[in-house]
Amino acid sequence: MKVLIVYASKYGSTVDVAAAIGETLRARGHAAHVHEAGTAPAPDGYDAAVIGSAVYVGSWLKAASAYLEAHAAALRERPVWLYGVGPLGLEDPQPAGDPEQAATLVESAGARGYVTLAGALDRSRLSLVDRLITRVVKAPAGDFRDWEAIRAWTHGVADALERREPAADAQPSKAAAAFAAPAAASHAAPVRARLDEVVA
Ligand SMILES: Cc1cc2nc3c(=O)[nH]c(=O)nc-3n(C[C@H](O)[C@H](O)[C@H](O)COP(=O)(O)O)c2cc1C
Repeated sequence: MKVLIVYASKYGSTVDVAAAIGETLRARGHAAHVHEAGTAPAPDGYDAAVIGSAVYVGSWLKAASAYLEAHAAALRERPVWLYGVGPLGLEDPQPAGDPEQAATLVESAGARGYVTLAGALDRSRLSLVDRLITRVVKAPAGDFRDWEAIRAWTHGVADALERREPAADAQPSKAAAAFAAPAAASHAAPVRARLDEVVA
């Protein structure tokens, strides 16, 4: 099948995640085309789409959510899966779980699943503001991307495509505390709360 893979990334770690999804689908015999959200083609002409973004302060990057919004009607006509890249840490990456926004994104694209995948943080590459935010929330630096989890989730997508069934979401990747959110709070809340403290 011809599969469109779309990503949005600020510092590059999501680019490699999208590439790994593409490679895994290609290894399963699918024609996987990987594109950055700002310049990605419309989903017409593709049998399925896998769309994702790095997560910043609880939200997808604008390019990815704008792509999803602009092509919602076409996306709803084909199988779609969504992925977010973000949580940081080794044993229990934080913030754990899907961002609050995930439900809206899934609804708008009629997606069959949303997976949250651990990300990577290289402090030396961050803008001043981003460095401040990560310092305030004590986000751990390092590369926590779990290639096995990424491939396993993608195989689930391929299985579903081949059987024409929905795929089960992968387990959220394992890793350590960064944005230490209370379980019931949204992703963005602890970041904003601590920033308010700093600014006050
Ligand atoms: C300022 C800042 C805010 C972040 N906020 C979140 C967040 O709310 N949720 C999350 O899961 N990850 C968050 N992260 C972690 C990033 O999503 C992670 O580093 C990701 O791998 C970045 O992807 P990119 O390199 O493709 O831009 C944040 C990182 C930074 C620098």
